[in-house]
Amino acid sequence: MKKYILLTLILTVVVVGPFVYQQWSEAKRLRYIRETKQLASQIHATSLVDYLHQLKEISSDRVSLLLFTGNTQAQLEPCGCFIGQSGGLPRRAKAIAAIRENGFSPLLVDLGGLQPSEHLDMKPHSFESDDHSTDTGILMRDQHRVQTTLTAMEMMGYDAFFPFDSETEILQNREVNLPLAFLTQDSDAYEIKMVEGKKIGLVALDLKNSTEVVSDQLNVLMSEVQAQSDFVVGLSHSPIEVNRALAREYPSFSAILSPSEGETERVGDVLLVYCHSKGKTLGALMLSDGVGDTPAKVQQIALTESVSDDPDVRKLLDDFYYQITIDHQLQIVSHRLFASEPLERDDRNNYIGSQACQECHQKEFSQWSHSSHATAFNTLRTVGREYYPECVTCHVTGLGYESGYEIGNPEREHFVDVGCETCHGPGKQHAYTPLKENIRGQVPEKVCLECHTPEHSPGFDQLIEYVMSEVDHSRTELSLKQILEQRMRGPMKPEVELFVMSYCPYGVQAEQELLPFFETYGDTINFKLRFIVGKEESSAENAGEDIRFTSLHGETELIENKRQMVIAELYPDKLFDYLLCRADHLHEAWVNCAKNVGLDVGRIAEAVEAEKVTLDLVEEIQRKEALNIKGSPTLVIDGRIIDGGLWRGKVKETCR
Ligand code: HEC
Ligand code: HEC
Ligand code: HEC
Ligand code: HEC
Repeated sequence: MKKYILLTLILTVVVVGPFVYQQWSEAKRLRYIRETKQLASQIHATSLVDYLHQLKEISSDRVSLLLFTGNTQAQLEPCGCFIGQSGGLPRRAKAIAAIRENGFSPLLVDLGGLQPSEHLDMKPHSFESDDHSTDTGILMRDQHRVQTTLTAMEMMGYDAFFPFDSETEILQNREVNLPLAFLTQDSDAYEIKMVEGKKIGLVALDLKNSTEVVSDQLNVLMSEVQAQSDFVVGLSHSPIEVNRALAREYPSFSAILSPSEGETERVGDVLLVYCHSKGKTLGALMLSDGVGDTPAKVQQIALTESVSDDPDVRKLLDDFYYQITIDHQLQIVSHRLFASEPLERDDRNNYIGSQACQECHQKEFSQWSHSSHATAFNTLRTVGREYYPECVTCHVTGLGYESGYEIGNPEREHFVDVGCETCHGPGKQHAYTPLKENIRGQVPEKVCLECHTPEHSPGFDQLIEYVMSEVDHSRTELSLKQILEQRMRGPMKPEVELFVMSYCPYGVQAEQELLPFFETYGDTINFKLRFIVGKEESSAENAGEDIRFTSLHGETELIENKRQMVIAELYPDKLFDYLLCRADHLHEAWVNCAKNVGLDVGRIAEAVEAEKVTLDLVEEIQRKEALNIKGSPTLVIDGRIIDGGLWRGKVKETCR
C-alpha cells in the first residue's frame, strides 16, 4: 500500500513538477522585468502633490520662490515609451499654475540650452551626401520646436532667459512681446526682479575658467547688484569648478544655478544647483531671510502622469504636431539606425518587408506577428505621432534608407512596425538567394540597444537576457492571456477588437468563448465589438440616395448589428450581459434580453434610427477594409489579426 502511495507521489512530482516549476519561473521572470523597469525609470524628484503640501505650511510673505529650468533641448514632452516618465511643457505649465494658485508668485527663469542637441552627433553628412535641403529641413523642424518652446515659456510667464552664445542666432528672428528678459554676459549682465515684495538680483555668469573669477569688473558688478537686491542668484554657464570658485569668492550669492546635470552642493552658505535635462523636472528654489531657516533650499518637482496637461499649452503642442503632419519639409529624417552594420552599409542590399520572409519562415513570422514589435506603428497611430520623424525611426523598418520606410508614402506601408529586417538586416538578396552570409543570423545585443536606449527603454541593458526568449522565436505558441499580459507591461492599454456578424453562429460562439475572459480584465484593456457589413456600390439610379448597407444574414442581422452598436455606446457596462443573453436566445425577440439586463427598450429603438448609426456603420466598413477582415469571427489586438489557433477553442468555423 505504502509503495503505491509513494509511487503516486513520485509520479505526481515528475508529471506536475516541471509544469509548476515553469509557472513559477515565468512569474519570477515577469516580476523581475517589471521591477527592473520601474527602478530604472525612477527620477529623483518630489511629487507636485508633496511640494504643494509643503507650500501650504509656509506663508508666501516669508519666502520668495524662484522656479527654473535649463538645458531643456526644446524637448516638448516625454515620448510616452514607458510608464513613469517625467517632464513636458503642458505639465510644467500646470505645475506652475498650481503653485500660483497656492498664493505664490514665483520668479520663472530658464538657464539656456534650448538647442536640440540630439542632432549634433548625427549631422546629415553621415548619409545622403551634401544635399542641403536635408540640412535645412532638419533645422526647420528644430527651429519650430524651439519657437514652440519659447511661446510656451511666454504663456507660462517666464521672467528671464539666459541663452548660450550659440543660441542667440535662433532667437534673433523672434518678436518677444512679453516681458521675457534676455540676459547676456556683455550688456545686460544682471536684472533685478521683484518677488513677493523682495528684490532678487539675477546675475548672468559665463566664465571659462577659475582665473577669471577674481576681476575688478565682476567685483563692481556684484556690489552694484548687492546694493539693489535682497537676494543675489547667479545664472551660470560656467564649469562646476568655476561655480565653486565663484561661491567662495562671493558669499553674497544665495545660490548659483547651472543648466547642466549634477548633484546639489553647498559651498559655505552658497547653494550650487543643477537641472534635470530635457525639462524632466521643474527646479524650485526657496529663498528666505527668516531667523533659524536655512537661507536657501532647492527641490526638483517631478512632472509625471499624475500632473495633468495645461489645456492651452497642450493645444500649442498639438498645433506643432499638426504642422508636421501637413508639411513634408518638416518630415525630413535626421537619423537612421544600424548605420555601421555591414548589411545596411551595402548599397545594393534593399529592404523588402516582413511579408516577403513569411513564405519561407512561417514559424518565425507567426511568433513575431504576436509580439509587440509587430504593432509598433499602430502605437504611433494611436497616439497620433505617425508623421513625426523623432518617433517613427524606431517604430518602423528602414527609415532613412533608400529602400525602407518613408513617412506618408502609401507604397511603403509594408515597412511599418519593427519588422524582420530591423534585427536581421535588409533581406532582398537573401530572399532571392537564401544563404547564411547575406542575412544577420545572430542578432547582436547592440542592435537591440540602438532602439532600446535608456531614454526610451530604461533598464533594458539589464533585461536583454530575460526578454530574449520573447523575440528569438523560440516561444511560438503563446496563449491569448500571455499575449495580452505582455502588452499590458507598457503604458498603452491593449486595443482588442472582435469582428462578428450578429447572426453568425460562430461569431456568437466566439462571444461566448471570449467575453467572460475579457471581462476579467475590466478596463485594463479597451474592448470593441466590431461588425462585418458591406455596402452596395452606388449605381447611376441610386446615386445621391442614402447608402445601402448589406449583411450576410440579411436585414434582421443588420438591425441587430445597429442595436448592439447602440447598446455599446449607451450602456457600455451592460453590453456583455446583453450579448451573452442574445447568444442563448438568438432567434427570440431582442426586447426580452434587453429587459432582462435592464436596458431601456424605447431609447435603443430610437437611437437605432438616428443618423449617427449610419456614420458608425461606414466606420465599421472602413475598419474592416483597412485590416482586410475576411470573416466572422476574427480577433484583432492592436491592429493585428490573432491566429485563430490561439483562441478559437470550440469555435471551428467562420461565416464569410
Ligand atoms: C527598430 C527598433 C527596435 C529594435 C532593433 C528592437 N526593438 Fe524591441 N521594441 C521596439 C519598439 C518600438 C517596441 C515597442 C513596441 C510597441 O508596443 O509599440 C519594442 C518592444 C520590445 C519588447 C516589449 C517590451 C515590453 O516590455 O512591453 C521587448 C521584450 C523587446 N522589444 C525586445 C527586443 C530585443 C531583445 C531586441 C533585439 C534582439 C529588440 N527588441 C530590438 C523597437 C525595437
Ligand atoms: C530610440 C528609439 C525610439 C524612439 C525614437 C521612440 N520610441 Fe517609442 N518605444 C521604443 C521602445 C524600445 C519601446 C518599448 C519600451 C519598453 O517597453 O521597454 C517603445 C514604446 C513606446 C510606447 C509604448 C507602447 C505600449 O505598447 O505600451 C509608446 C506609446 C511609444 N513608444 C511612443 C513613442 C513616441 C510618441 C515617440 C516619439 C516622441 C517614440 N515612441 C519614439 C523606442 C523608441
Ligand atoms: C525563398 C525562401 C526564403 C526567403 C524568402 C527568406 N529566407 Fe531566410 N532562409 C532561407 C533558408 C533556406 C535559410 C537557411 C540558409 C542556410 O542554412 O544556408 C534561411 C536562413 C535564414 C536565417 C538564419 C541564418 C543563420 O545564420 O542561421 C535568418 C535569420 C533568415 N533566414 C531571415 C530571413 C528574413 C529576415 C527574410 C525576409 C527578409 C528571409 N529570411 C527570407 C530561406 C528564405
Ligand atoms: C527583435 C528582433 C527580431 C525580429 C524583429 C525578428 N527576429 Fe528573427 N531572430 C531574432 C533572434 C534574437 C534570433 C536568434 C538568433 C540569435 O541567437 O541571435 C532570431 C532567429 C531567426 C531565425 C533563425 C532561426 C533558427 O532556428 O536558427 C530566422 C529564420 C528568423 N529569425 C527569421 C525572422 C523572421 C522571418 C522575422 C520576421 C517575421 C524575424 N526573424 C524577426 C531576432 C529577431
